[in-house]
Amino acid sequence: MSLDKKFENLFLNVSIKAALSSYHFVGKKDKIAADKSAVDAMRNKLNEIEMRGKVVIGEGELDEAPMLYIGETLGTMNGPELDIAVDPLEGTNFAANNLPGALSVIAVAEKSNLFSAPETYMNKISANVPSDGIIDLDYSVKKNISNLADYKNKQPNELSACILDRPRHKKIIEELRNLKVNLKLISDGDVSGALLVSDKKYNIDIFMGIGGGPEGVLAASALDAFDCFFQGRFIFDNENDVNRAKKMGIDDLNKKYLLNEIITGDSIFCATGITNGGIVSGIKIEENNYISETLITHKSTNLKKIINNVNDVKFDMDTEESQILFEQLIINVIGLYKFETFVEHLIDKPG
Ligand code: FBP
Repeated sequence: MSLDKKFENLFLNVSIKAALSSYHFVGKKDKIAADKSAVDAMRNKLNEIEMRGKVVIGEGELDEAPMLYIGETLGTMNGPELDIAVDPLEGTNFAANNLPGALSVIAVAEKSNLFSAPETYMNKISANVPSDGIIDLDYSVKKNISNLADYKNKQPNELSACILDRPRHKKIIEELRNLKVNLKLISDGDVSGALLVSDKKYNIDIFMGIGGGPEGVLAASALDAFDCFFQGRFIFDNENDVNRAKKMGIDDLNKKYLLNEIITGDSIFCATGITNGGIVSGIKIEENNYISETLITHKSTNLKKIINNVNDVKFDMDTEESQILFEQLIINVIGLYKFETFVEHLIDKPG
């Protein structure tokens, strides 16, 4: 079974709407508002789709997230049963501070084909290599780099690695530096980081390090379409996370997941830029049009493409800003009406 081609446009539209909505909060220093706006827009759009969708990766669990929580059902409840993974705003700091790299991301697969991940950290590794032991989470940094260099017929100093710039990665970064590997240290946004291995144009040979588990699953679904290698191991380092994992049916807490254990079968992935980033450009405004750029993949149709869309948002009531403008307009009209009535009243009853 595969996902109908019609879903490509439908999910593309979901991702674009979330990005446009969040875009209005870029640089406003309020990452919660930026995130909420993307969540609301994404949820509204998802609910219009003819499907029986279920969130497997979302904004947390019901008790912590009122919307797009894990287990939430979405869609018209007619149509195929789908697993949905969302990160309506990936890179909340980027959006709040108008920095490059903010994205809206969604991945969809048929029911029971997408891993339901708890919101914990995950140790991840990705590269554009076949899955036969060239790189592995359990190898040392040295072994991964030397295998990758052999496979690519390069020297380690000709390889580039991407990793989140975090104190927890001090040792790995030091080892990579000692091996003379070129480093791309990112401050946030490891969905994009992991995807940089998918095409030579990004000039990244390997992505490694610990980031969000949900972000790992989302990246894996795109990497699957690019036939890249990905492994992830969740990190459950406190009682609460251990209990949540068990509740979600994860028994082996140290399991190393291969890509095809995270995502199986067909899938569609969309990532729309909010601010400019390495993979896609952010929203641009030209006259009344908002131009968006989305990376879309659909495994079964071999679609791997960056799509530009022109969005006329003048009358788009999905965006919070449009709603605010609309409400403002109504208030002004009512105000004007009251003022005119007041003037008429004065004219009717002078002095
Ligand atoms: P948010 O969009 O939720 O802020 O996540 C940004 C991010 O950089 C992810 O891309 C990454 O997986 C995670 O945070 C890393 O977490 P931490 O900042 O705790 O190291």
